[in-house]
Amino acid sequence: MTTGTATARACANIALVKYWGKRDAARNLPAAGSLSLTLAALVTETTVAFDPALAADELVLDGSPAKPGDASRTSSFLDLIRAEANITTRARVTSTNQFPTASGLASSASGFAALAVASSTAAGLALSPRALSMLARRGSGSAARSLFGGFVRMHAGHELDGSDAYAEPVISRLVDRVRMVIAIVGGGAPKQYGSRDAIEHTAATSPLYRAWLELVPHDLAAAEGALAAGDLATLGTITEANALAMHASAMAARPAIIYWQPATLALLAAVRELREAGAAAWATMDAGPHVKVLTSLDQAESIATALRGIPGVSEVTISGPGGPATVTG
Ligand code: DP6
Repeated sequence: MTTGTATARACANIALVKYWGKRDAARNLPAAGSLSLTLAALVTETTVAFDPALAADELVLDGSPAKPGDASRTSSFLDLIRAEANITTRARVTSTNQFPTASGLASSASGFAALAVASSTAAGLALSPRALSMLARRGSGSAARSLFGGFVRMHAGHELDGSDAYAEPVISRLVDRVRMVIAIVGGGAPKQYGSRDAIEHTAATSPLYRAWLELVPHDLAAAEGALAAGDLATLGTITEANALAMHASAMAARPAIIYWQPATLALLAAVRELREAGAAAWATMDAGPHVKVLTSLDQAESIATALRGIPGVSEVTISGPGGPATVTG
């Protein structure tokens, strides 16, 4: 019988070289590596309480009972913890996203990272950061990166059991210089396709999927070189080009997956103009219409001001790099 309770917090991350493809859907193993920046402004806090009186797991998300899909994904994740800890007790999970808006911005990354840390601690497991990263990956591929702060590299690995598919921090002096300006489009309307289904659909139908996967190792090597050299302009150039290539592969799926709205394109044009005027600004987009702009500490305010005036942009927030996922209670 387990009665443990623990609370953990984790920051979301935004990929600079994207994860968009799997080598094994059942174990949620990525087909290629990825590279991200953990963000201090996007935080999830999660409490897990194992309670022998519960007949089923319960999930309260941002103050309300979760939708069945979210609840069953959480329960499947808790099954992994229960198997590891050799327990059968059900749990009450309370999770709150402290995000600039309820837009679903990368919340599965911080959500499953916080859940991995809170649930393993509550179950009495003492796991290494690497083991926690692999566990979080089972919940969501991008969550494996949210175990760590700053720049983070996810390894695709080769092993069939996924024992070499984990994330680890990448040390770079750029971490003190970078900021991410997050421009929310359309008031954060729910996205049309979740990333999980969209990844599968792209792999199954897009004629550009293979080309995308072949590109990723090159972008990763170049981005890691830029991090080692402290070269923000090269990192930014790869970041924007890589995001556009990922979206191109998704847009070429049949039927197409198009996340962008008119304001997304207006933001992309504004970022290009800012850059042509000499600013350090490079855009990236994920499974939604929002645009995140990689920039430098000294230019973040002026970039944010420039983006705030664009029609269809509802909110602009600046974030610095976030720290690793931690137990808070
Ligand atoms: C566009 O991690 O949400 O944000 O592993 O199926 O849960 P699952 O996918 P998920 O995909 C993230 C896709 C992305 C790019 C990235 O974060 O690397």
